[in-house]
Amino acid sequence: MKNNQSIALIGFMGTGKSTIASLLAKELNFQLIDTDAAIEKKTGQKISDIFSTKGQPYFRQLETDLLKTILLKNQQVIATGGGIILKEENRHLLKTHSYLVCLTASWEIIYKRTKNDKSRPLLLHADPKKQIERLLTQRESYYQIADLTINTDKDNPLVICQKILAHYRDDC
Ligand code: S3P
Repeated sequence: MKNNQSIALIGFMGTGKSTIASLLAKELNFQLIDTDAAIEKKTGQKISDIFSTKGQPYFRQLETDLLKTILLKNQQVIATGGGIILKEENRHLLKTHSYLVCLTASWEIIYKRTKNDKSRPLLLHADPKKQIERLLTQRESYYQIADLTINTDKDNPLVICQKILAHYRDDC
């Protein structure tokens, strides 16, 4: 069947992955999965607690375990955590089993969108602007594995969703 492949959204924190994923899932009538929410549900712990009690490598392994299960199915839209691409195995799983879309935004917009949200452990930093710039630089090349990259600075989520759908329908 055409247009069957699952879509995974990657991109830095605050680039709009959850919002856009939910719109895409509605449009395509696909199942919506948010990896952060799924990990919180499975472990019964908040992401920030997992980071503080078990550490970041443990969290990355939880992401891998989850991807291995969910990527077996088609017709899903998956919003991933911003750092999921740090692990080679995760990049390979996503690239092999999904239509991979990267959402981007400038550091200024990311800062504006995330500054009042205390749920992201990596941004609870003395200088969040510097931290955003540092992490963006560190991750830049990993995000380039996407099949499609869309900037979310200016357009509203509905417009971005339609842009992604147009590419998806052509490419998949
Ligand atoms: C992270 C991003 C978060 C969450 C965790 C780590 C990251 O997800 O997975 O706090 O390393 O960029 P969002 O991108 O949905 O905020």
